[in-house]
Amino acid sequence: MSEKHQIFRHDFKFSAERNATLTGHKPIVIWMSGLSGAGKSTIADLLDQQLFGAGIHTCILDGDNTRAGLCSDLGFDLASRSENIRRVAEVAKILTHCGLVVIVSLISPLREDREKAKYIIGASLFREIFIKASLETCIQRDVKGLYNQAMKGEISAFTGISSPYEPPESADIVINTDVKSAEECAADLFQWIIKNIT
Ligand code: ADX
Repeated sequence: MSEKHQIFRHDFKFSAERNATLTGHKPIVIWMSGLSGAGKSTIADLLDQQLFGAGIHTCILDGDNTRAGLCSDLGFDLASRSENIRRVAEVAKILTHCGLVVIVSLISPLREDREKAKYIIGASLFREIFIKASLETCIQRDVKGLYNQAMKGEISAFTGISSPYEPPESADIVINTDVKSAEECAADLFQWIIKNIT
């Protein structure tokens, strides 16, 4: 056996349940999946502010931000995305042990990878949120100008254009940003989360 396999997990006494007695609410992972430009980061920000205002301890793990540090070595081929999602899921799990409401905003395009994230975090703590917007809407918004570049072939493996996106089939909640403002979407999600954690 190689040295890296000489690992003995320590059975620490901390638990999500114990730490929840300090925060006054249950920990949970709000896993938001959706196309680039669907509104995940905007909703995460608004939601985080609302939860903070309600005395809820939160942390945001956003793809663009985690890719600047924790996942800066990863690209956008499907294997790299899978590793990106795995790492973020592992961090989210640790943060639930701190008693936090963890808001994840990652495209997380494949069902299989989202299922793995659910397994890592634990089904009882994992909530899958589909931030739904049509590809046409995202192309029209094109806040970062990436769709334009992808359609010209200047960016390869771009989700929705040249890389797949598999919509969640049994999301806990679907937030449709085609028909509601980001503020309305965040408010809907806030109400739903409060019911889930208190
Ligand atoms: S994921 O597929 O691995 O879950 P993640 O959410 O971390 O993706 O990162 C997505 C963000 O990276 C997008 O919002 C966009 O700003 C940027 N990005 C750069 N290249 C790509 C690409 N080829 N496909 C999708 N997003 C990209």
